[in-house]
Amino acid sequence: MKYVIGIDLGTSAVKILLVNKLGEVCNTVTKSYPLIHSKSGYSEQNPKEWVEKTINGLAELVHSFEGNMNDIEGISISGQMHGLVLLDHNQKLLRNAILWNDTRTTKQCQEIYEMIGQERLLEITKNPALEGFTLPKLLWVKEEELELFEKAAVCLLPKDYLRYRLTGKIHSEYSDAAGTLLLDVNKKQWSAEMCEAFGIPMSLCPPLVESHENVGSLIPAISEKTGLPSTVKVFAGGADNACGAIGTGILSEGKTLCSIGTSGVVLSYENRGDLDFQGEVHYFNHGQEDAFYTMGVTLAAGYSLSWFKDTFAPNEDFETLLQGVAEVPIGSNGLLFTPYLVGERTPHADSIIRGSFIGMDASHTRKHFARAVMEGITFSLNESIHIFRENGKVIDTIYSIGGGAKNEEWLQMQADIFNSKIVKFSTEQGPGMGAAMLAAYGCGWFDSLQACSKAFLDVAEEYTPIQHNVEKYQQLFTIYQRVYKQTKELNEALQVFKS
Ligand code: XUL
Repeated sequence: MKYVIGIDLGTSAVKILLVNKLGEVCNTVTKSYPLIHSKSGYSEQNPKEWVEKTINGLAELVHSFEGNMNDIEGISISGQMHGLVLLDHNQKLLRNAILWNDTRTTKQCQEIYEMIGQERLLEITKNPALEGFTLPKLLWVKEEELELFEKAAVCLLPKDYLRYRLTGKIHSEYSDAAGTLLLDVNKKQWSAEMCEAFGIPMSLCPPLVESHENVGSLIPAISEKTGLPSTVKVFAGGADNACGAIGTGILSEGKTLCSIGTSGVVLSYENRGDLDFQGEVHYFNHGQEDAFYTMGVTLAAGYSLSWFKDTFAPNEDFETLLQGVAEVPIGSNGLLFTPYLVGERTPHADSIIRGSFIGMDASHTRKHFARAVMEGITFSLNESIHIFRENGKVIDTIYSIGGGAKNEEWLQMQADIFNSKIVKFSTEQGPGMGAAMLAAYGCGWFDSLQACSKAFLDVAEEYTPIQHNVEKYQQLFTIYQRVYKQTKELNEALQVFKS
């Protein structure tokens, strides 16, 4: 039996999957690493930790592997998007990576609009200037740490840095490059106009390859440390959302994914890169060659529920926390939650807005709050679906993954709020599986990613919208949509009380 390895370089941990030719996950290893929050709004990581933990994880996986090592044919990597990794001329790290969930760059986002104009920005990059994206971070370093910026020879995204350390080769690929604001998304090339406008030397942008391209093999030192043969082929891989899409078969027009992890995304396949969504949703290159996807992001999706659990039920697991939620009627007895714990992206790109519970009364108990949190997260994701539908997309089947697919009540809630059939997979591994599929396709096991997804993925259950519930939720959603505007000013005023 032949095998591939899919690595998912996430925000809190690296998850490594060993997958066989039948698509079965034979082993998983997870190694976590810390986030560094040195100031409010700052979120960094030490890229050396990514490398060290990945090497340890691979060594552990290899150690417990009972087959022939030479049957492990390929590796590919999925990674957290947008993070800025800067290397000098000797390929040494210049500073910690500034991550996708770092919000220090509001000023730089304004400067981007002032300098190039929203219209031109959207024409080239297809996306708005958001704090999370890479260019604002690069401009922040240029303004605040000029001596480091001047030493920079190359700018990498997190998984591209990891791949460089495994193979010794420097590349970027389209799906991750799309989240930098330096790529001409439709033309699939670094934008000389964007680089010039912001004084970014084009030499900082690495050569671009396709996600399934073989970019080299393991350098001898890594082969020695992990126990993997140095003949293992390494394939470029993709952004975590692109790999999440591949790993769930979102590979043709009409397919939509809802993923509720720390952040939540609703992602829809596009076979064209020249449509105009006015920057209301993200518009990125897919990991499938010459394809694209649009995506709305809820910054604190699963994070809202884990915040709620950690704050009010720290010693319980999620299952216990959510007991009783099914007994609470739709609308949580008049309690409404907005999940803006760390600001929001879609449809309100706003780093200052904060969450709220509206309508609390003495009848509400913990289970009402828990249900309200689940409803609020799902409403936020529904805002993205609403935008897709307003732009003429037909969304009638949504593949649900992540924490939201682990709870039956939440799956039915998604069907009712999204007014769409919800499909759940029998086993689901998220972006790591997408990375493994890129390696499987790259190794020539299949003629296409679609053929690979047919062989690897298995649907387990379907949830259909219940008309009566749909109507109730539609009424509640219109109230939810009003909360943003009505709490915006209040949250701005509350800023002075933040330390
Ligand atoms: C997407 C985004 C997040 C990260 C999480 O734009 O910022 O989904 O990719 O890893």
